[in-house]
Amino acid sequence: MDKVFVFDTTLRDGEQAPGIALNAKEKLEIAEQLARLEVDVIEAGFPITSVGDFEAVKQIAENVKGPQIAALARAVDIDIDRAWEAISSARDPRIHVFLSTSDIHRKYMLEATEEEIVAQAVAGVKRAKGYTNNVEFSPQDATRTDADFLCEVVRASIEAGATTVNIPDTVGYTLPHEFEELLSYLYEKVPQLHDVILSVHCHNDLGLAVANSLSAVRVGARQVETAVNGIGERAGNCSLEEVVMALKTRRDLVWVDVTVNTREIARTSRLVSLLTGYPVQPNKAVVGANAVAHESGIHQHGVLQDRMTYEIMDATEIGYEGGQIVLGKHSGRHAFSAELEKMGYELSKDELQRAFERFKELADRKIQISDSDIEAIIADEMRTSGDTWELVDLTLVGGTTVEPRATARVKTPDGEVVQESASGDGMIDAACGAIVRATGVDARLLSFSVGAVTAGTEALGDVTVQVDVEGDRFTGRGVSTDVVEASARAFLNAINRATRVGRRERATDAPGP
Ligand code: KIV
Ligand code: ZN
Repeated sequence: MDKVFVFDTTLRDGEQAPGIALNAKEKLEIAEQLARLEVDVIEAGFPITSVGDFEAVKQIAENVKGPQIAALARAVDIDIDRAWEAISSARDPRIHVFLSTSDIHRKYMLEATEEEIVAQAVAGVKRAKGYTNNVEFSPQDATRTDADFLCEVVRASIEAGATTVNIPDTVGYTLPHEFEELLSYLYEKVPQLHDVILSVHCHNDLGLAVANSLSAVRVGARQVETAVNGIGERAGNCSLEEVVMALKTRRDLVWVDVTVNTREIARTSRLVSLLTGYPVQPNKAVVGANAVAHESGIHQHGVLQDRMTYEIMDATEIGYEGGQIVLGKHSGRHAFSAELEKMGYELSKDELQRAFERFKELADRKIQISDSDIEAIIADEMRTSGDTWELVDLTLVGGTTVEPRATARVKTPDGEVVQESASGDGMIDAACGAIVRATGVDARLLSFSVGAVTAGTEALGDVTVQVDVEGDRFTGRGVSTDVVEASARAFLNAINRATRVGRRERATDAPGP
């Protein structure tokens, strides 16, 4: 059987989804989890775009063992040099060079002729080759590129040394049968394509990213580019969990192997959702809360007799044996840190102390603590690690007859603690108002949703917010046993993301892909 390589771009294309701005700690934690998931390649970022992203990619390259570590670069020298600087310490580094090839991108974005594009692609691949043998080339907007010109660029990139050729459906435009035809045409006209790995990178604008990736595998693609929970630009990327489970479940038809450790899928999905602030819809294939639930009596009856009646995947194969009770009120620091170690978290002394305090607070209210509770606490700590603004505490006064009023104490970027109060339409509105005053950031709560990490009335509240910060929209997430505190944390998390993005934009003017 042939192997299909899984190239995960959660930390690069996934992170380009609106409102997500991960800090280095969060990116490193996700990368460690992707390594536990045993993906083949982690695209860690796009180093030229900011000092923060460069540093995060560098840390991943230095610390994460197992998968190849890739960095993205436009086909220009400064990008390629910077990408190499970030990943050179990885055991198996890859430079991913891209350049637009479609008429529309050439005309409106690059103002370049076809000849100039071919020359630039060749120069970019050769420059990357000067650093490493492992070079991927992507003709951006390939599916809207004239097929014969695409053949010419692909041929030239292989002759220049590309070892993987990636065909992106950048705007999620193609249909499965059309994509098969395009890739077959490429194989026919560019026989050298058989000597390298053909990869595909499908966006989900028409909801076809997974279907298109599967079609590509049918005609010979041996790398699929994915993002956990399908996050990414606009409607997102090909969802890792869906394409992997489709390839595994229908191995009888596709005849290929994927070596991802599927038992880590559920946990990876939860971690990415917690750290990006992007919730997973309940009916999402494979990782949605309802994906392994059976509601109707007929289904429940069938599943009780034999799971195969209505289940095509074994939930434990996706890692759904989680939710076990692991700790309780009497568990001490030792048991807590041993559990974290077992779960694969490595925390500094300070982080461990803060996480332990949060655990104790929770254990006072909740008799049994599950691994999902611990994941939520750790994710919350990671989200706030290195943050500009920190919530010190929150005091609330109110009731059905008293106007809600909140006082927030917030630690500023200089370490000073500022206290401000505000009234509001409700407790959450008052808490957000107090934070706006304390930070001086013009932020407005746009939407709010609350969930619970586990079942039961004493569960941790998990709040996701959308916040308008000076005209741009950011997501924020926070957990606490108290829903108002969780909301305040989520609101401040969104402000911190906005601050991070502001810093990145000031640091560079390099455009994203
Ligand atoms: O969608 C796209 O074309 C990309 C490339 C950089 C591969 O993300
Ligand atoms: Zn993309």
